[in-house]
This record gives sequence, structure tokens and C-alpha cells, in this order.
Amino acid sequence: MAAAGSSGFGSWFILGLLITLGSVASWAEARAFFVFGDSLVDNGNNDYLATTARADSYPYGIDYPTRRPTGRFSNGLNIPDLISEQIGMEPTLPYLSPALTGDRLLVGANFASAGIGILNDTGIQFLNIIRITKQLEYFQQYQQRVSALIGAEQTQRLVNEALVLITLGGNDFVNNYYLVPFSARSRQFSLPDYVVYLISEYRKILQRLYELGARRVLVTGTGPFGCVPAELAIHSRNGECSVELERAAGLFNPQLVQLINNLNSEIGSDIFVAANAFDMHMDFISNPQAYGFVTSKIACCGQGPYNGIGLCTIASNLCPNRDLYAFWDPFHPSEKANRIIVQQIMTGSTQYMHPMNLSTIMALDSRV
Ligand SMILES: *[C@@H]1O[C@H](CO)[C@@H](O)[C@H](O)[C@H]1NC(C)=O
Ligand SMILES: *[C@@H]1O[C@H](CO)[C@@H](O)[C@H](O)[C@H]1NC(C)=O
Repeated sequence: MAAAGSSGFGSWFILGLLITLGSVASWAEARAFFVFGDSLVDNGNNDYLATTARADSYPYGIDYPTRRPTGRFSNGLNIPDLISEQIGMEPTLPYLSPALTGDRLLVGANFASAGIGILNDTGIQFLNIIRITKQLEYFQQYQQRVSALIGAEQTQRLVNEALVLITLGGNDFVNNYYLVPFSARSRQFSLPDYVVYLISEYRKILQRLYELGARRVLVTGTGPFGCVPAELAIHSRNGECSVELERAAGLFNPQLVQLINNLNSEIGSDIFVAANAFDMHMDFISNPQAYGFVTSKIACCGQGPYNGIGLCTIASNLCPNRDLYAFWDPFHPSEKANRIIVQQIMTGSTQYMHPMNLSTIMALDSRV
């Protein structure tokens, strides 16, 4: 009995050792991925919060591998999932997920929360959401948890070598400045002054990310939020984009690129990479047929004009083939559209990715 017991222990020990060595080896070649931002990149954190900004019921997730809602604002995969796929990693788990423990922490984490913006007062109507300063605090807490697992030095390396994605800004317009006529922010600031203020706050957020160890950060500009079905439903007679909202995006995006240029030259390294989400979207919005869509104006799931009113719920109109629609719900692209966007992030020219695309980043970083 004793002999059998000890040989059993011995083989378990060896098996355990092999598994440990195997996971250390694969982690060394892999690259962690961290995600910050709003509903465009939330993988399900809001499922764990008392908020109205959620995507945890049918038909969200209808084309996800499990065919179930996950909290992603998509019919299937979202942009972070598709980036993980491209860099050969498992999708990141939401930071609030109880499953995010042990070795799974080494894959990275998703801190994003639907409804948030650059400003603290953006998205207050959604109640309990994880504002960006809180997301950054969680990133610090994450690093403490990982340190307990692999030590401080290895944790620092994991974070320095990681890829980071941050997507912010759209809600500061649609869910703040333009949420209601005569909103507090629109009475406080002219549009050009508001944009300057947003950029000055965004600078602090990006600097904080750098202080926390991020060294490769994809920063997406805003999409053409004046062209989403929700805005067409309110502002558009013939399907034309909202001129005022397009003006806002037109002011914000170039100043964000300027901010990124300034930060990179202050630091002396290409830490921040601008993704031109505006042009990536406009390609398929202005010529949907060229990308295999029947429409870029009508959401697949919704109600009212352009299916752009209210939320996507079990009671909404639902299109049978989601791949034919650029927009899944009144605000968010379909998985098919997300794939087009991520393809440009990977291989796009400098018009789309500045100063370089993700395939160039991957090639550069694999050499160090
Ligand atoms: C937003 O809230 C955080 C945490 O409460 C605070 O530290 C920060 O200064 C606030 N930002 C602004 C611009 O008020
Ligand atoms: C982007 O990626 C492609 C490879 O897929 C490469 O040929 C091209 O030069 C890259 N462009 C930039 C600006 O990095």
C-alpha cells in the first residue's frame, strides 16, 4: 500500500512538473493582452454590475460559439476577441469574472465597461459602471495578484511585453454632450472647447497607463457615431449622417492623433499607436455592398426607423443573417464588421494605423 502510494505520488509529481513547465514555456512565447474602455470592447464586466448598460440576454451572443449571451455588445465576437485570435491567444476574461484566477490571469484581462467615457460624468444614467480611473486601479490590483503568482519581476515583464487596447470617447459625445439638448456639458463648453478638454483628460489616462507599465498601446479613435442607426433614427430623414455629430468626431480624432504623437515624442518611443476607427468604419458605411453587407444604415436588431430606437431585446426585429448587416444593434458593429476593422488593425496602411499596424508591432516585438 505504502509503495503503491508513493509511486502514485511520484507520477503525480512528475505530471504536475510537466504541466508547470509546459505552461511556463507557452506563457514565455505568448503575450498578455489588456483591454480598457467602453461597450465596443467590454467582454462582460457589466454582467456583474447593477447597471442598465448590459448585453447579457438574448439575442446578444446569438452567433457566439456557445450561442449564448456573454455581455459582449455583438451578435458574436467583438474587437478584443478578434485581436486575441490574431495574436494566437485565448480571449481575455472580464476582470470581474470569478473564473479569472490562477494561470488564466497570465493571458491578460479585460477591464472595459459599457457606458463609460473619458469623463467621470459620462454614462451616469447607466448607474454602476467601471469608470476609466477605476479600470486603471483594477489594473494595478491585477498586477498585485499576478505578483503573488509569478513574482514582481516576472509580472513587470509580462505587463511591459503585453499588448494593450483602449477604446474611449464615443460616449463622451453621445451619452454626455449630445445626450439631451442643452446638456450640462454643452452649456459649459462650445464643441471645440469640449474636445480640447476631453483630449487633456485623455492625456492623463494614457500617461497613467504608461506609468502602470504599458509599452504597446493601441488607441482607437472614435467611429463615425453620427452614422450609427441610433443617430439616424433621431436625426436623419434620408439616411444621411448627423452633421453635428460628424463634426464632433472630425474635431476629436485628429487631436487624438496629435496627442499620441506628442506623448510618443516626449517618451522617445512608439508606445501609443493610433487606430483610425473612423475611416475603418466609413469604408463599409459608405460602400456596404463592397464588403458584403446589404445595409450599413439599418441595425440587425432593434425597432423603429433604421431599427435604431431603444435597445436590442427579445421583442426586437432580428435579421436572419447577421453577416449581411454592418450594425448589429443601434450602436455596435456586427461580428462581420468587427472582422473588417481588426483586419485593418493588423495590416492596414498608415492611413488606418499610425505609426504602424499590429503585424508590424508583432514582428518588431518578437525580435527583442
Ligand atoms: C474622476 O474620478 C476619480 C475618482 O473619483 C478622480 O480621481 C478624478 O480626479 C476624477 N476626474 C475628474 C476629471 O474629475
Ligand atoms: C502593415 O502590414 C503589412 C503586412 O501585412 C505591411 O506590408 C505593411 O507595410 C504594414 N504597414 C505599415 C504602415 O506598417
